[in-house]
Amino acid sequence: MSNTNIAVLGAQWGDEGKGKIVDMLTPHFSTVARYQGGHNAGHTVYVKGAKFVLHLIPSGILHPGVTCVIGNGVVVDPQALFKEIDELARMGIDVDGRLRISEKAHVILPYHRELDVLSEARRGERKIGTTSRGIGPAYEDKVGRRGIRVCDLLGDRDALADEVRENVSARNRIIKDSTLDWKPVFDQLIGYGERMRDWVTDVSLFLHETMKEGKGVMFEGAQATLLDIDHGTYPFVTSSNASVGGVCTGLGVPPKAIGGVLGVAKAYTTRVGEGPLPTELSGELADRLRESGQEYGASTGRPRRCGWFDAVVVRYSARINGLDAVALTKLDVLDGLSEIRICTGYKTSAGTITEFPADLRPLSSAEPVYETLPGWSSPTKGVTQFDALPAEARRYIRRLEEASGVDCAIISTGSDRSETIVKRGSVVEQWLAD
Ligand code: IMP
Repeated sequence: MSNTNIAVLGAQWGDEGKGKIVDMLTPHFSTVARYQGGHNAGHTVYVKGAKFVLHLIPSGILHPGVTCVIGNGVVVDPQALFKEIDELARMGIDVDGRLRISEKAHVILPYHRELDVLSEARRGERKIGTTSRGIGPAYEDKVGRRGIRVCDLLGDRDALADEVRENVSARNRIIKDSTLDWKPVFDQLIGYGERMRDWVTDVSLFLHETMKEGKGVMFEGAQATLLDIDHGTYPFVTSSNASVGGVCTGLGVPPKAIGGVLGVAKAYTTRVGEGPLPTELSGELADRLRESGQEYGASTGRPRRCGWFDAVVVRYSARINGLDAVALTKLDVLDGLSEIRICTGYKTSAGTITEFPADLRPLSSAEPVYETLPGWSSPTKGVTQFDALPAEARRYIRRLEEASGVDCAIISTGSDRSETIVKRGSVVEQWLAD
């Protein structure tokens, strides 16, 4: 059992395969804590051969004895939460005693989803391509200081009634010709609160005590750095801090509690939704990556856009998050390609840039600067030792490391937990040995 607390987060645009990495590391930790996002995330797991997608509850719940925490930085849709809990129960997994939900987490209200869809429709051509889960509107209410928190569902009912009345009338002002009655919303929220009551906790205090006892905590990010509201490709981002800063604000833990940061990056790049993806491919090559990587959204089923590995992006993520190491996933998807490219900069009308820009406009006409490396003909699928990888694959990884400035301590060569390389002498080995 590790006594180093580590953060595991996405270094690109999400869907990097964090689920498998978190799942594989979980047995070394007492607690897994989600710090932001909501049920826009999706992690496919297989329980006794049955496919199961977790959206809100950390997948640590599948490991007996591990406590799972939903932090204050997460927005909770109670309906989505109960659906997951019921499905887990059907598979024989009881969350009682192992699930903790922050009393400060904000609640996704029943009409936030329709506001999300409406906001996208109003943006027209400039739409974000959200997951339509009501995530953005829930965070808007949070920063607008009219949000409803989990503790409000359990507290003074008159105060909650006032808050719901105000929120519903704000909603009715936004959606023309539609008047929602506040009372059914209120009743629904009271019911939700009752069902959640036993899991509701002072999460900051719980984590503080857990860490004081020397039990390791893994902080689990959702979405990824380039979807971060502050550091991502704004406005084509999600509405929370998916990068490492979100750990402190989203769980109430101090920066010093974070003993290590592991970024998860795919051996190529994907994104769902709108916004820039400088190395995006089209045609046969994109289709090939999409099919062999099964690049379809776990939450929405949307086909993911695919492109070459972008070292500018991962180097940027390494800087923003202070990455100690990268877990490189889906290397095997590149098996059989005759050549593979790595992007090291963008050629824009104002010259070549090698740092990810804040203003996205130059990116729309930018040409990626590529280095081309030879592919490999023997498969990497299932390889568990770095030295057993084909020489060209080792060369590709070394070049990624140089260009991104961070060591690939874990390399995933297949979806199974066993299809993984943990590099000898890497920082990850040290974390797990602590
Ligand atoms: P929202 O989080 O639903 O508001 O969507 C905002 C943007 O984040 C859209 O481009 C979504 O496709 C993207 N997004 C949200 N969650 C995920 C995820 O779990 N993986 C990848 N992209 C995501």
